[in-house]
Amino acid sequence: RDPGWTEWADVIVVGSGIAGLTAALRLRGQVERIAVVTKDVLAAGSTQWAQGGIAAALGPEDTPEQHEVDTLVAGAGACDLDAVRVLVTEGPDAVRELIEWGANFDKDPEGNLSLTREGGHHRDRIAHANGDATGAEIQRALIEAVKRAPEILVFEHAMVVDLVTADDGGIAGLTIHVMGDGDDDGVGLVRARAVVLASGGLGQVFSQTTNPSVSTADGMAIALRAGARLRDLEFVQFHPTVMYLGPDSRGQQPLISEAVRGEGAFLVDWDGERFMQGVHELADLAPRDIVSKAIMKRMLETGHPNMWLDARHLGGEFWQRRFPNILASCRSHGVDPVTDLIPVAPACHYASGGVHTDLWGRSSVPGLYATGEVACSGVHGANRLASNSLLEGLVFSRRIADVLPGELRPLGEPARHVGAAGVVPGTALKEVQETMSSRVGVLRSSTGLTEAVELLGKIASTSAGAIDPAAWETTNVLTISLALAEAALRREETRGSHWREDFPDRDDAHWAGHFDAQMTDGAT
Ligand code: SIN
Repeated sequence: RDPGWTEWADVIVVGSGIAGLTAALRLRGQVERIAVVTKDVLAAGSTQWAQGGIAAALGPEDTPEQHEVDTLVAGAGACDLDAVRVLVTEGPDAVRELIEWGANFDKDPEGNLSLTREGGHHRDRIAHANGDATGAEIQRALIEAVKRAPEILVFEHAMVVDLVTADDGGIAGLTIHVMGDGDDDGVGLVRARAVVLASGGLGQVFSQTTNPSVSTADGMAIALRAGARLRDLEFVQFHPTVMYLGPDSRGQQPLISEAVRGEGAFLVDWDGERFMQGVHELADLAPRDIVSKAIMKRMLETGHPNMWLDARHLGGEFWQRRFPNILASCRSHGVDPVTDLIPVAPACHYASGGVHTDLWGRSSVPGLYATGEVACSGVHGANRLASNSLLEGLVFSRRIADVLPGELRPLGEPARHVGAAGVVPGTALKEVQETMSSRVGVLRSSTGLTEAVELLGKIASTSAGAIDPAAWETTNVLTISLALAEAALRREETRGSHWREDFPDRDDAHWAGHFDAQMTDGAT
């Protein structure tokens, strides 16, 4: 794994979704050599898949204060108030800048932004594009803006293997596996004065997720190996309405946006009974953790593997106009939501925790910044409010670009290439995912979590024969799975998206705080 070539940059941005490209665009003109490296093509990450939209207090009836209240309530007492204030107050301007960069959001007949509602929001504040393809429109606009900025160097099919630190423990660069053919394939070293991690989440830690296949927790794993503090890993959000395709369906599953419930769809059980009324004042639009738990409870009580979403009354014309992509996706799986109930079950959707940052995106490692899903800025607490994720990437990347140029480190001598000492085979991925889904999923218990830690520890002691990107990815998934399972075992309470069968209540006396994830021997 010795690097075969060496390059340098002032700043390396890892990841090319809303967080990464916003950081790069905002840094241009302030820093000379900016490189964006991304594991696949620019549009392959989660941003592209975001359906519902981006939340910001943009409507005449709305205020940042109301957005703050809704965010804090969803976060179940675990949000960082200062970070939430930053998010909601800077959010509207950040969205306006995105529009200036070329993102086209849907408008009403008067030409004003058309805003909708999702779970946990008490106002219409979700801007959306092309009905239900908000992320794709944002990704398109950002890629075009980056293409108009030749000073931003873009490297696709380049997977970061590890961070490299200098003698003082701060960033000196990173190692990258460039995935090419023959001599063009291999690992090199890029020295850098700062690294911005914007590499997305960890969905592929579980067997079923709404995340694309690239979401293998790489950024979190390399940061953890480099000694950065990771926080709140146990708070994994399971989206309540992911289309259920049967017990054998693995990997990325079709999302049925919360905006469908925002427009009037509701959940029913196998007897056709609505079950969200009486559970929460917002019924089917309760915060996501509450809806996911209610669905799981009903599934466990009745022994069924899914519940149903009834959106038939929205009608064909409305479906076609407002949710054309979800309509096409349902139909491609043999379900016509205009006439049929949609089978749904919760699946892994979003990591509320990640690399712990301050209000300016700084991690605990000098020169290492984190933004978007890979980060834990404190805005989501124990359960992210719907459509706050795109906004977080946007707002905190702007903040990073405000401070980073003044904090650039000298180009340091690489002293420590941390490396994944025990690289496990790529073929172990399925076993890791199954262990996580069966024991560290929506409903957790001490018995299941302890078993998970043991089973994952055994997988960690296996060695990869061939070291390739699949082995790096599986090692990253395993590293974060272990840290996540241990954090979930440690938190003996139920809060937000962390649901413990054996500790069913929220316990502010003992668990109001946060703790850092640990590296576990065997997966390092
Ligand atoms: C959705 O459209 O339901 C997902 C939006 C989000 O995760 O914030």
